[in-house]
Amino acid sequence: MLVTIKDDYESMSEQAAQIVAEQIRRKPDSVIGFATGSTPLGLYNELIRMHRETGLDFSKITTFNLDEYVGLPPEHDQGYHYFMWENLFKHINVDPRHVYIPDGMADDIDYFCEWYEEQMAEVRGLDLQILGIGANGHIAFNEPGSSLGSRTRIKTLTSKTVKDNARFFDDPEEVPKYAITMGIGTIMDARKLVLVASSEGKADAIQATLEGPITAMVPATIVQMHQQAHVVLDTEAASKLEYEHHEGIVERK
Ligand code: PGA
Repeated sequence: MLVTIKDDYESMSEQAAQIVAEQIRRKPDSVIGFATGSTPLGLYNELIRMHRETGLDFSKITTFNLDEYVGLPPEHDQGYHYFMWENLFKHINVDPRHVYIPDGMADDIDYFCEWYEEQMAEVRGLDLQILGIGANGHIAFNEPGSSLGSRTRIKTLTSKTVKDNARFFDDPEEVPKYAITMGIGTIMDARKLVLVASSEGKADAIQATLEGPITAMVPATIVQMHQQAHVVLDTEAASKLEYEHHEGIVERK
């Protein structure tokens, strides 16, 4: 595992964007897995800047998003379709026909999940998956206890997540109770992982992920099994690591 610790959120984001950009330059038709959440926003802003200022070309990439709420139409401002288009896709030259985001409005969710996996297989899998991490060690909507071999499926959201989300909805009935998420097995099939984490709120989860035992109770710990995982942190997220480390690059094989 390659761990890079940067001074702050901006340089963490730049470093992560650099990894994504290198992948796209090396293989212009790369298949990239995108994540939502606040942490990757800096990385997305940096990709937008690279597109505008250096002509970084997204026209041949294919994208797959990690997850989406069930029951929200694509135009809903709390949904992940909206998030991705507003924060990244509409600012770059991605081909909309090559954008895959789970369909939370699908009539038959189980069928949709199988279809989503098949679409990934059809383009020979993900070259690179971007990941955030929850304070409890979740990746995508794979909360503690998720099977480490899981595939794309519907998950019930934890009552904490439902409660946390309630403030974004006028009608409590509208707050999603389910989500479609790539499984941990799906994520592990990506040829490269780039996990970003920032701030002290993530320090315990990062310590467990990099230095703790692999356990379904901290789903992100599975990245220890990946052959090409690059974890990019700011100093606050790295502040509880116990192994000796220094500014810059720490390589642990
Ligand atoms: P955050 O979410 O980037 O908004 O902290 C990360 C996650 O929960 O996966």
